[in-house]
Amino acid sequence: MRILITGACGFVGSALTQHLLERTAGLEIVGMDNLIRPGSETNRMRLERMGVSFIHADLRSASDISGLPACDWVIDAAANPSVLAGLSGTGASRRLFEHNIGALGNLLDYCREHRAGLIMLSSSRVYSIPSLCAIPLSVNNDSFVLDRTAALPRGLTENGIGSDFSTAAPVSLYGATKLASEVMALEFGAAFDFPVWIIRCGVLAGAGQFGTPAQGIFAYWLNAHLRHRPLRYIGFGGTGHQARDALHPRDLATLLTAQMRDGRAGGQRIYTAGGGPANTMSLAQLTAWCDERFGPYAPAADMTPRPYDVPWMAMDSGDAKRDFGWSVDMKLTSVLEEIAQHAEAHPEWLEISGS
Ligand SMILES: NC(=O)c1ccc[n+]([C@@H]2O[C@H](COP(=O)([O-])OP(=O)(O)OC[C@H]3O[C@@H](n4cnc5c(N)ncnc54)[C@H](O)[C@@H]3O)[C@@H](O)[C@H]2O)c1
Repeated sequence: MRILITGACGFVGSALTQHLLERTAGLEIVGMDNLIRPGSETNRMRLERMGVSFIHADLRSASDISGLPACDWVIDAAANPSVLAGLSGTGASRRLFEHNIGALGNLLDYCREHRAGLIMLSSSRVYSIPSLCAIPLSVNNDSFVLDRTAALPRGLTENGIGSDFSTAAPVSLYGATKLASEVMALEFGAAFDFPVWIIRCGVLAGAGQFGTPAQGIFAYWLNAHLRHRPLRYIGFGGTGHQARDALHPRDLATLLTAQMRDGRAGGQRIYTAGGGPANTMSLAQLTAWCDERFGPYAPAADMTPRPYDVPWMAMDSGDAKRDFGWSVDMKLTSVLEEIAQHAEAHPEWLEISGS
């Protein structure tokens, strides 16, 4: 089997490449990337050492795509992945559109031409921000937690947010590009008869993630804490109670493998996957973990809310467990320890990440 991984030099693309090659004998991977993400160049040699054919190409360019070799599956891990993308002024929203939607149009045409299956890495950011902000919460142990005494909205259980949670606008410009891409991918798959799986991933985290305050928060937080760089609890009263779950790409690779092996034509195509409530941490709890690991360092409180911030997100992966027997193996504390060791071994990581 031959797989094309787009965004192969990004954090998720490169980690998936490694974990897929480790578990599947005889697998051939073609990786492509335009190297636009600061730090992505560092993964190019790593991929080549893994035996990956790397192609420097831009998904926005139809002629670049037409030069790619035929593959059985495409894993689309290329995008601008920041929830704040598109907001920074002239041209930014247009660039987001071109990278996250226009590029997908070219990739769908590639899938049509080669009858290649597509796995699209969508995001928990397709969920409605007003609905996420209305989730009933209380505070426990320095973290927002679900208020189990209150009625929960459709799509939310004590296991987290599932695929039928509201996707009504606003969802952020980034989230909207993912939601639109989901619709287009499913439609192309139905019209041209190739399989499409969509995974709405919660936060993905692990060693080698590029970290900035706007994206890659676990990597940014650990690296900044270790080096005493500015850290801020933004919004929510400056408490750091906002909480996220995290999933390691190694676990994601297990789900992708099961989906590529599944020959089912119809049925559910959109899945939510994440670390879940058991692998959820607030920023305040993350600071406590870092204090223990690296020594004390206190973030500043910043009361100014940031666009698109939400207080609590944890994914319910129950559908993936039911249909693919999939569950999370790597605990959040192991993910953090992996990032910590990488941060210690790479003192320049924030500069490489463009922070
Ligand atoms: N990291 C997360 O927490 C997370 C969560 C949910 C979904 N996702 C999705 O997973 C995917 C990968 O995210 P990531 O964290 O690895 O991001 P990343 O920025 O580390 O990797 C994305 C890669 O895509 C490349 N790229 C961007 N535009 C391109 C284009 N037009 N043509 C070719 N290459 C291009 C970049 O150079 C980069 O190497 C994205 O689609 C993202 O939306 C990520």
